[in-house]
Amino acid sequence: MKAVAIQTFGAPEGLAVIDLPAPAPAAGQVLIDTEAIGVGGEHALIRSGALAAYGFEEGHILGGEIAGTVTAVGDGVDTSWTGRRVWTFTGLSGGHAEQAVAPVAGLVPLPADLSAVDAVTLGSSGMVAHFGLRHAHFAQGESVLVRGAAGGIGVMAVQLAARGGAGAIAVTTSSPERGDRLRELGATHVLDRVGAGGSAYDVIIDIVAGPDLPSFLAKLNPNGRMVVVGVMAGFPPADFGMALLTAFQKSLSFATFSADTVPDADRLAATADLFASHAEFHPIVHEVLPLSEVVLAHRKIDAGGVFGRIVLTP
Ligand SMILES: NC(=O)c1ccc[n+]([C@@H]2O[C@H](COP(=O)([O-])OP(=O)(O)OC[C@H]3O[C@@H](n4cnc5c(N)ncnc54)[C@H](OP(=O)(O)O)[C@@H]3O)[C@@H](O)[C@H]2O)c1
Repeated sequence: MKAVAIQTFGAPEGLAVIDLPAPAPAAGQVLIDTEAIGVGGEHALIRSGALAAYGFEEGHILGGEIAGTVTAVGDGVDTSWTGRRVWTFTGLSGGHAEQAVAPVAGLVPLPADLSAVDAVTLGSSGMVAHFGLRHAHFAQGESVLVRGAAGGIGVMAVQLAARGGAGAIAVTTSSPERGDRLRELGATHVLDRVGAGGSAYDVIIDIVAGPDLPSFLAKLNPNGRMVVVGVMAGFPPADFGMALLTAFQKSLSFATFSADTVPDADRLAATADLFASHAEFHPIVHEVLPLSEVVLAHRKIDAGGVFGRIVLTP
C-alpha cells in the first residue's frame, strides 16, 4: 500500500509517498480501507520538524483522522464491523495511508448521509472546538473571539459558538475575503491578525499563540477566559505571565486545552454527536486532493491560503 512518510524534516518536498506492507489488524483492531484523510496545520508543523522535541523522527508516517470502510477485523472483534463506514483518529502516526489499523473502541460509525470527506472535516476539528469552548466555560450570550478562525478548528469554533447562542463572535484572519466567508459561518466582527479595532470579549479561543498572545489577553473582559488550543505562531514571549499578573484586578483565566486530556469515550461521543447533527454545520473543505499530491497539499498549507481543511483521498 501507499503511505506518506517524512523523509526529511523541513520543506514539503521532504515528504514522500512510499510502499509499505499493508498492516494486519491485531486483537481488538480493525483494518480500514481509507477513503479520506484530514490534513491541517498540525501536520505541517510535524513535517517541518518544529515538533521534533515531542519525539517525532524522520521516517515518521503521518497520522491523523481518517474515514473509510472496515475490510477485516482482528481477534475478539465482532465481524459485523466488516463493510461498515467509519471515522477514527489514528493518533499521530499511521493514518496517511491507503489502509490503516485502529482499535475497534475508537471507531465512530458514519451516518449514511455523511461523506468520508465531510467526516474528516468535521470530526477532530469540531471535537477540539467543542471541548475548547467547554474548557473556557463558554455560556449563551457571552462574546467570543476566535483567533486563527479560518483554519480547521477555527471554522468549527465559530459555528459552535453561533449555535451555542454567543452574543457576538469576533474572528481574526488574514484577509477581508476570508473574513466575509467567516461572516457566512456566524462571525459578527472581523479583525486582522493583530486584532486591531477589536473590543473586549468574555471568551477567547486561540489557535495561534505566538508573540501577540499578551495583547490578546488584554482584550478579555473582567472574569474573561482565554483558552489556547493551538500554537500556529509558536510560543508566547517568556514574560507572558507578567501580562496576566499585571491585569490581576480583572480576575482573568488563562488555560491551555488539549483533547488528549478528554477521556476517549467523551471524545467519541462528542464526535458522534457532531456527525448526528452534521446538517447544522458547514463542513469547510478547502480542496480534495489525491494522496499522491500530499506535497502539494503541504505547499498550500505553508502558503497560507487554505480556508478550512484539505482532504487527501487515496
Ligand atoms: N488542542 C488540541 O487538542 C489540538 C488538536 C489538534 C490540533 N491542535 C493544534 O491546532 C493547531 C492547528 O489548528 P488548525 O488545524 O485549525 O490549523 P490551520 O487549519 O492550519 O489554521 C490555522 C489558522 O491560523 C491562522 N494562522 C496561521 N499562522 C498564523 C500566524 N503566524 N499568525 C496568525 N495567524 C496564523 C491562519 O488563518 P489566517 O491566515 O486567516 O489568519 C490559519 O488558517 C496546531 O497548533 C495544532 O497543534 C490542537
